[in-house]
Amino acid sequence: MSFKSRFETDPLLVFSPGRINLIGEHTDYNDGFVFPAAVDKGIVAAIGKSHTLKSQACAFDKNESVEFSLNDIKPLSRGGWQNYILGVVAEIQNRSRIVDNFNLVFGGDIPDGAGMSSSAALENAVVYGLNEVFGLSLSKHEMILISQKAEHNYVGVKCGIMDQYASMFGVENNVLLLDCRTVKSKSFEIDFKDYELILINTNVKHSLSDSAYNDRRSVCESIASMLNVKSLRDATEYDLETIKDGVTPENYQKALYVIQEIERTVKASKAVEEGNLKALGELLFASHNGLQNQYKVSCEELDFLVTLAKLNGHVLGARMMGGGFGGCTINLIEKTETKSFKSFISESYKNRFNKVCSIYHVKLSNGTRLIH
Ligand code: GLA
Repeated sequence: MSFKSRFETDPLLVFSPGRINLIGEHTDYNDGFVFPAAVDKGIVAAIGKSHTLKSQACAFDKNESVEFSLNDIKPLSRGGWQNYILGVVAEIQNRSRIVDNFNLVFGGDIPDGAGMSSSAALENAVVYGLNEVFGLSLSKHEMILISQKAEHNYVGVKCGIMDQYASMFGVENNVLLLDCRTVKSKSFEIDFKDYELILINTNVKHSLSDSAYNDRRSVCESIASMLNVKSLRDATEYDLETIKDGVTPENYQKALYVIQEIERTVKASKAVEEGNLKALGELLFASHNGLQNQYKVSCEELDFLVTLAKLNGHVLGARMMGGGFGGCTINLIEKTETKSFKSFISESYKNRFNKVCSIYHVKLSNGTRLIH
């Protein structure tokens, strides 16, 4: 193992999963509901105390590393993965917890930019590992808030809490209906019967999406304040109608999308409870329609994949997943159809965009944990 050869000690090993989201997109930072699950792809971090005056973190898959001193933590101007780690350390320090120098090596199998939250998985792996190694006594709830703040302050994305929550609290074979206001969830065991979920990655990287993400968030916040409510979670379509003349048609549609998506998410949890996969599928298509036409966070490649899914009678539902502007679609498809759908999609995507898409199967899994 690379950690042992580099640092000559046995590390602690943490696994932290990526996540899917069945439905409830861009609702988390509006205090709404989301319906995610942790998956069997994730980050493994090896972590241990350092006996030098520096700390070191290595990204095994990229063959890159960074060395830093704990009394001078700041974001790197050209930092990618480094800032997630530095941010977590800084946020732990902000809570007056003491970390000593440490070494960390991490790697994983979550495709970058796929909308499966490789960043939250990394943040959670780091905070979880440091908590164990240095006996910080942080609760899981505190840990996910640290992960989220790291992303706000060191990466510059004002993300909600969905990704960190799903990655930390995932339950095998379950989807979590998370109330992002109370940060409490209810697990729903899901029986896919003759169906399964597949993810189709456009392989479009959403690198320009950070500013668009923060823009969407601020539109939602300003409409909530016009409505005199804490967040759009507290607003109804009727309330929104009352200020229609005071907002642009584009922003009106964005707020309307959020209000409707929160409702769809609750309906989706009922559909799962009743084992009504057809109803669930329809909600997925409706969610995509809103993300594409109202919230405007989709892209041509994602829309293409969802359109093809809709034309196939064996696909109950499909939609873009995650922040948008690239990444994956999530598809609920009849198992017997998967093979031919996969080859049809791969060929059509290649013909249309002259690039390949990637297709993944995922299992719903447990959250962040130690591995031996
Ligand atoms: C990203 C953010 C999440 C959430 C989704 C959109 O994944 O990190 O907090 O807002 O986008 O649903």
